[in-house]
Amino acid sequence: MFKVKSLKAKHRTLHLAVLCSGGDAPGMNAAIRAVVRTGIARGCELSGIMRGYSGLLEGEIFTLKASSVANIIHRGGTILKTDRCPAFFKREVRAEAAHILTRKGIDALVVIGGDGSFEGARKLESETGFRCIGVPGTIDNDIGGTDDTIGFDTAVNTAIQSIDRIRDTASSHDRTFIVEVMGRHSGFIALNTGIGGGAESILMPEFNKSARQNPKQVCELIERGMRRGKSSSIIIVAEGNVRDSKHGGQAETLAHELAKAGHRAKVCILGHTQRGGSPTAHDRLLASVLGAYSVEALLADKSGVMVGVRNADVVLVPLAQIAKLKTKPSPKLYEMAKLLSS
Ligand code: ADP
Ligand code: F6P
Repeated sequence: MFKVKSLKAKHRTLHLAVLCSGGDAPGMNAAIRAVVRTGIARGCELSGIMRGYSGLLEGEIFTLKASSVANIIHRGGTILKTDRCPAFFKREVRAEAAHILTRKGIDALVVIGGDGSFEGARKLESETGFRCIGVPGTIDNDIGGTDDTIGFDTAVNTAIQSIDRIRDTASSHDRTFIVEVMGRHSGFIALNTGIGGGAESILMPEFNKSARQNPKQVCELIERGMRRGKSSSIIIVAEGNVRDSKHGGQAETLAHELAKAGHRAKVCILGHTQRGGSPTAHDRLLASVLGAYSVEALLADKSGVMVGVRNADVVLVPLAQIAKLKTKPSPKLYEMAKLLSS
């Protein structure tokens, strides 16, 4: 359960805007709802910005009422839509964004997204003085300064449900399956899914080289399973930031390498199925708490920070520190996963 400290309000009222940026994540709607409902309860005016920084630059800004966010807590995706906006990397474009927000009478911006979106928000605030706060929303769980991000738990649950199904058919046919999960730069989804799904092997960018360099190790694991009478296996591989021009992504490359070593494996790429779907209870709660606290923090005159969670405490982390605080999945947990599958 979360521990929340009260903050002393310094503003009686504010006009707040909220947007989603980067890849969507289940629970973003619950976060939007929490921002809007808390803001309105505290006497604030609320605006929603469509399609992240792209919509902001195009002035797609609408009033949000308490009723605008009714019946969305359980819905995946984001009612505000999201986008990646390359133009926002330019300083002059961020200055224009601040003008647009100020002209609309908006005092502060809540950005729901990942560390890239927060870096955009950090620059916006430091260059223009326009106040921003971050709420961590990404299935990858790869944001420094917070133990958890909105959408991660749902993505892991979705992946595990798929693995349970794959295991049924894998064991019926005595097959090996390579299941590729999301995570371009991080293996949090791979590790948690591998442990929760009882995978025989987990490959992730933090602890393994690319699939092409790993087949020997994976073959050994498969063979070890076979020696103790195991006729089917599930190998989890994080997508990583690797594409082999000949064979495709990690899973396909690994299957190709295994075939060369005499092992046939089926490939299943879970892909964007992990980004959709109704958020789990955990993600709804996390999104509600962090979204609500972002408003309390802005009213307490805190900005340039992300609302995160550390050891169950809801904390404010300076956006400037997020990159430095970035952590890897625990090597101990990875070792434990290996023991569990031995
Ligand atoms: P995430 O927020 O999930 O990490 P991205 O890294 O794709 O996703 O970033 C989302 C958007 O945030 C980018 O398309 C861009 O508009 C903005 N952004 C990302 N990094 C920066 C940066 N270094 N400077 C300014 N804006 C950035
Ligand atoms: O949001 C994170 C993430 O889902 C990564 O795990 C994945 O690599 C990436 O986004 C895919 O993004 P898109 O297909 O939207 O470009």
